[in-house]
Amino acid sequence: MQDYKDILAEILINEETLQTRIKELAEEINRDYQGKDLLLICILRGGIVFLVDLMRHITVPHQLDFMAVSSYGEGVRQSGGSVRLSLDLKTDIRGKDVLLVEDIVDSGNTIAYVLEFLRTRQPHSLKVCTLLDKEERRETSVPIDYRGFSIPNKFVFGFGLDLDEYYRNLPFIGVVDLKKYEPPALR
Ligand code: PRP
Repeated sequence: MQDYKDILAEILINEETLQTRIKELAEEINRDYQGKDLLLICILRGGIVFLVDLMRHITVPHQLDFMAVSSYGEGVRQSGGSVRLSLDLKTDIRGKDVLLVEDIVDSGNTIAYVLEFLRTRQPHSLKVCTLLDKEERRETSVPIDYRGFSIPNKFVFGFGLDLDEYYRNLPFIGVVDLKKYEPPALR
């Protein structure tokens, strides 16, 4: 794997800005979910870093669960909503106030699929919290209740988002320099 420093075009959102915004989002959630039966659902794997930092600031009692989805085909997310469930929840969500936690909404196909799927299980409420929103790429319209940042259509990585499955641990959101980056297939 290339060293990320060699392919980093710019830091789009630095650590301090991320952490400040995440705290603000948690404060909003604390206000909105007062007295409710909150269940945070993290969509693996990208959402994990955001989830962990977010929940450290969530003071209302809440539960946590995970689910994973993948796209049909080659492991490359295709347009057209070809998404399927690969890991189901352990929790019965009926009557719960569910908040989905995602790292990024891009085409919107993942969230659209998950919302449709979870609605059939009759939660009391079902909302979406995403750290990043790349609206320019939207194919399916989805409601976003808590949005960290709107970002331009750039190839981003770090803070949960991978670059060929590496670098999810970086504490910032970086932009890949496409002139220097060598996709695995070309290596
Ligand atoms: C990313 C991200 C979202 C989805 C958003 O997941 O975590 O779940 O893509 O894209 P969409 O709006 O176009 O559906 P990815 O499939 O890369 O898997 P990962 O979370 O394991 O990295």
